[in-house]
Amino acid sequence: MLKRLLAGTAALLVAVTVPVWGIASQAAGTSPTHDLDYDGTAPITRAELAAVRPVTARHAMVVTAQHLATEVGLNILKQGGNAVDAAVAIGYALAVVQPCCGNIGGGGFMMIHLAGGKNVFLDFREKAPLKATPTLYQDSKGNVVPGLSTKTFLSVGVPGTVMGLNAALRRYGTMPLTRVMAPAIELARDGYVLEKGDVTILDARAQDFAKHPHAAAIFLSHGQPYAAGQRLRQPQLAATLERIAHGGTAVFYRGSIARAIVAASRAHGGILSMRDFADYSVAWGAPVTCGYHGYTVVSDPPPSSGGTTICEILQILAPYPLAKWGFGSVEALHYTIEAERRAFADRNSDLGDPAFVHDPVAQLISPQHATALRAGIRADAATPSSQIKGHLSPTEGRHTTHYSVVDAHGNAVAVTYTINFWFGSGYIAGGTGFFLNNEMNDFTSKPGVPNAAGLVQGTANQIEPGKRPLSSMAPTIVLRGKRVFMLLGTPGSATIISTVLEGFLDVADFGMNVQQAVDAPRFHEQWYPDEVFVEPGLLAPAVQQRLEAMGYRFEQQRLWGADEAILVDPKTHLLEGANDRRRPAGLAAGY
Ligand code: DON
Repeated sequence: MLKRLLAGTAALLVAVTVPVWGIASQAAGTSPTHDLDYDGTAPITRAELAAVRPVTARHAMVVTAQHLATEVGLNILKQGGNAVDAAVAIGYALAVVQPCCGNIGGGGFMMIHLAGGKNVFLDFREKAPLKATPTLYQDSKGNVVPGLSTKTFLSVGVPGTVMGLNAALRRYGTMPLTRVMAPAIELARDGYVLEKGDVTILDARAQDFAKHPHAAAIFLSHGQPYAAGQRLRQPQLAATLERIAHGGTAVFYRGSIARAIVAASRAHGGILSMRDFADYSVAWGAPVTCGYHGYTVVSDPPPSSGGTTICEILQILAPYPLAKWGFGSVEALHYTIEAERRAFADRNSDLGDPAFVHDPVAQLISPQHATALRAGIRADAATPSSQIKGHLSPTEGRHTTHYSVVDAHGNAVAVTYTINFWFGSGYIAGGTGFFLNNEMNDFTSKPGVPNAAGLVQGTANQIEPGKRPLSSMAPTIVLRGKRVFMLLGTPGSATIISTVLEGFLDVADFGMNVQQAVDAPRFHEQWYPDEVFVEPGLLAPAVQQRLEAMGYRFEQQRLWGADEAILVDPKTHLLEGANDRRRPAGLAAGY
């Protein structure tokens, strides 16, 4: 074990002795795309990064972005529950202790690796209301109306989390719903003491809470933002969770909770109906898989773009000697950025809900496609995005949370779920006590017009009744042979794909340990805008200069989402958990 850690550090130190590493004290970020995607964590210095180590455990490991939710999951495992029991308990607990992101008012994806070797994907993404149309967010002149798809009741998709968690428990769990929901109900009813990391997140939208009486009553303390050390009690959410624990999925989709949401939607100009809830369904399916340097990446199929895009990028990168070039080197950055640019052009043009469009996944992740795309990458220059052909229409062309669980039997579960922005649409329906998503913004409001994540997308992802919006969420499990090697995933909209990809490459090619891979600065290129987003500390000045001379434009942003990852040491089988330092409220813990 020690050898492995030292090997990881040695590789990193080699990387830092050649001038490929940035200094983390570079100027602070300028114009972030995710203005709420930041909780005040300082960028990591290279000395700090060289020193970080994961948490280790022998039997089981849980990593989430909120320490109380980690403890809930760990307790379930210690009480004999399996990874799915723990994942469901965590899903409900995060809805209480991480209200920005953990949710029952949104949706997500669960990736399960069963100890017997089977990999299963569960899609509980929100669906568009039946009254939704492709031009829902456009005015009579065809212009996209700002805010309509993010801040109004029209932004709310039919939530999938409750049906998703309950379906996972029923199929692969071992414990009753009442048992796995009990810790969440207790946390909501009795409250929990807020830490600095919790309060920074609440603060980010305190002004918006003030505009929504149902939110203000819960998430402001006598009209003021909560301070660290105060106890947050959520009795209404406790009652809602109680109803679900005893009444099951039906309460949410056909009973009092659906009625409350529909009533609030009507009162605020929304279009949700009881039929939307009654018709909602989750979908089980097979993951997207691909090989890379002896690993098998198991990730998410449409309506996630995550697995397809990650696999497409990896197929393009496979022949390049990234490990030799080193983390943060001109060459590694150049080829990875070019691979991302091309894969995002395909993603943004071609992918959508498989119930509505044909997704050419097999073609996009094929070696032939990778070879063709590689041929267009110049060794000495960036390719302008305008030269990469996408097709945004037939005629021409934030917030989330991730957690990872491995149990003592060898089952592994990676979940990313979201209400899109931090605290979603900002709406809480009546006395339900939980935030509703604004996931509808992930659709194409109009082909060629960027959404809140800056993604310029096409008609494959246009709004249609009952359709799921294309997502970038990518809870991912990496296998080595038949055994679990890594679990990864993060919030961050389109940057999710780059974060998961680069977290894996940091370990697989650059010799980092899992904590270093999670904490290391990242970069992201999504086709349009034609610039590379970077976190502070990534680019050494000399590297930046050379890349700019090749035609790259960089935009340094604030820190992105929290990758909550687990690695299983292939030799010792020791579990290594890494809570992302970008979410100080989070915790990796095992036994
Ligand atoms: O599904 C998606 O891709 C987005 N709705 C995820 C949102 C997100 O990660 C927000 N974080 N910045």
